Amino acid sequence: MTSSLTARCVFLGAPGAGKGTQAKRVAEKVALAHISTGDMLRAEVKSGSELGAQARTFMDQGKLVPDQVIIDMVKERIRKPDAQAAWILDGFPRTLPQAEALDANLSGDNALTHVISFAVPEDVLMGRLTGRRTCSKCGAIWHIENKPTKQEGICDACGCELTQRSDDRPEAIGKRLEEYRSLTAPLLAYYGDRGVLREIDANRSPDVVFEELLNLMQ
Ligand code: AP5
Repeated sequence: MTSSLTARCVFLGAPGAGKGTQAKRVAEKVALAHISTGDMLRAEVKSGSELGAQARTFMDQGKLVPDQVIIDMVKERIRKPDAQAAWILDGFPRTLPQAEALDANLSGDNALTHVISFAVPEDVLMGRLTGRRTCSKCGAIWHIENKPTKQEGICDACGCELTQRSDDRPEAIGKRLEEYRSLTAPLLAYYGDRGVLREIDANRSPDVVFEELLNLMQ
């Protein structure tokens, strides 16, 4: 880590827009907590918990997990010591009730500083998602064409096996995009009205997006 930022930031964008890729990179560079609701849910699924079993039925079909489950999970997470100064919420909120619950939970010194919308044309997203591979151990995100590993199927960062997410099948992706359009896209107007929304053209190289993101988050 090289510096710190006092950003309390939401990364908003369609599936495959590059939120996770960039959030991981920002968290490696500056001192802040990367809070990904998708990663938290996948950890629950992997642990075999009841919450994980419930969530999996929604995730595998490309549907959003019920609001209250997610809201309780995030409330608990942002109370933890590493999330007191600065954080990125990656994949939360995704519905109006989630955004309202977040507002109700944050105030004064703790208020949101930025909401960054990752803009990528829909026809690019399918290729990003079907080609994504994720390390089963360290969580590094790869892509068979855009960001290939040196050895196929093996993570360059830690040498472990890569897997394909169970919701990165075309049928589930279609449903995820539908959920994004109907339930998450309305948040653009919600945050636009509050004057905290910034848009980034995320259909450029990851390095270019990263540099612009760091500037936006100052
Ligand atoms: P989640 O894990 O949050 O998935 P998502 O929002 O669908 O987003 P993704 O992780 O698919 O995409 P991303 O934008 O992070 O892209 P990435 O950086 O990986 O959620 C999964 C599920 O959990 C949901 O469907 C839902 O069921 C549940 N859930 C989670 N949060 C919830 C909530 N708040 N409420 C209810 N349910 C919830 O990049 C994708 C690929 O593209 C990678 O291969 C990457 O290498 C490549 N790539 C990235 N950037 C670029 C670039 N600039 N150029 C070329 N390729 C790139």
